Amino acid sequence: MDSAPARALPLRPARTVVRWGVRHGLPAAYLRRSVRAGDPVARFLRDRAVRDDPFPLYEELRARGPLVPSSLGLATTSHAVAREVLRSESFGVGWDRSAAPGWVRWALAFGDDLDASGVAEPPSMLVVDPPDHTRFRRLVNRAFTPRATAQFEPSIQGTADRLLDKLERRTGEVDLVGTYAAQLPVLVIAELLGVPTGRREDFLRWGAAAAATLDPGLPFRRYVAAERALRAMHAFLRQHFARLRREPGEDLVSRLVGLPEDEALTERELHATVMLLLGAGFETTVNLLGNAVVLLDAHRDQWKALVADPSGWTGAVEEVLRHDSPVQLTGRTATAAVPVAGREVHPGTRVTVLLGAANRDPEVFPDPARFDITRADAREHLAFSAGIHYCVGAGLARLEAVIGLRSLAERFPDLRVSGAPVRRDLRTLRGFEHLPVRLR
Ligand code: HEM
Repeated sequence: MDSAPARALPLRPARTVVRWGVRHGLPAAYLRRSVRAGDPVARFLRDRAVRDDPFPLYEELRARGPLVPSSLGLATTSHAVAREVLRSESFGVGWDRSAAPGWVRWALAFGDDLDASGVAEPPSMLVVDPPDHTRFRRLVNRAFTPRATAQFEPSIQGTADRLLDKLERRTGEVDLVGTYAAQLPVLVIAELLGVPTGRREDFLRWGAAAAATLDPGLPFRRYVAAERALRAMHAFLRQHFARLRREPGEDLVSRLVGLPEDEALTERELHATVMLLLGAGFETTVNLLGNAVVLLDAHRDQWKALVADPSGWTGAVEEVLRHDSPVQLTGRTATAAVPVAGREVHPGTRVTVLLGAANRDPEVFPDPARFDITRADAREHLAFSAGIHYCVGAGLARLEAVIGLRSLAERFPDLRVSGAPVRRDLRTLRGFEHLPVRLR
């Protein structure tokens, strides 16, 4: 339970500092030391040049073998190993707090605060193991079946068309992320969650700040900004739940707040589940759309081929997901002793799964650095992960991307990137914050 407001206020700064310290400050110090020692995973997480272009580092790692020791445990660039670890019952996403030193446990308990919790904190389904994971996943799965997803098609198309109508009136250089790539996913997920679309600029602002909490070692100022955004999101969600309890609609959240007693989610579980859906719903798809436009601008012949034959968009979206994955990494912790790639992995060992590297594994994808929208096996990528945490919104993201990109290309076939795209300062997520284009 949260403390009463009168007591929580003076405590908040101390709690914020402790939360930051245990989640980011200490990891940052550790990562800095590991960078100095030449550790590759630490370099990926700290070095801006590697953030911009992680692919040479992935190849360096690949040359060292399928499972490489790093300061954070083990790391893999291998598609086969990544898939095996993600699907294995001997790995989980949770970690055993009871094994942590006493002061870490104290710091985690002291800093604990529902209103500041992010999408990668329990009980978010992303970071909990069965049986809780199974329970949460079952509750949301129904909203994402192929049939339920297909029903969204007209509304996605309508939203894309309205955004493009607005763009039609623009002249000169336009930021395609701000006006389109970010807008489409946030409007779609808002509809799915029964959230008023009028608040979308707030979500985009909050989401942009909060996405940083996925990366370890955040500087204090960025963490404070992220925490402020998370508090605003939780406050909004609390009101949203109250409204839907009074006036339920047909949306997923109305169903979640109205579950019968034996299935009902706790307040914290409800916040974690909806916050994850909201965040995952737009913070990733925006990257897929932006990355696609940049890649296809650099491969103009392929853009022209898609303008001429829009049936190629399905394959093109898979190739963008593979070549420039919007989520570059995830991780799992061994829950039992388990042999992986000829090596015994001990319980408690963390394996960093470099999805973006696995998607360029030459064992699976011939000439993997080549961007080719006609690649037959692009869909073998792990951009949506694998196993029980396989992205629940994968079908929706694919549909949004195909409709969003196809409609953009139909409306503006001569679109060109007209200035240097600005990358988001994120590691786990890979995409652009600004993308200057000329529409005609
Ligand atoms: C291009 C867009 C997207 C990409 C690349 C993406 C990627 C991913 C990845 C890699 C994971 C699993 C992480 C892990 O295994 O640790 C994941 C999980 C998840 N994604 Fe997505 N995602 C996208 C879009 C969406 C959308 C549109 C939604 C919701 C509407 C969504 C909701 C979720 C949820 C709820 C999970 C947690 C699933 C679980 O833990 O069982 N994602 N996503």
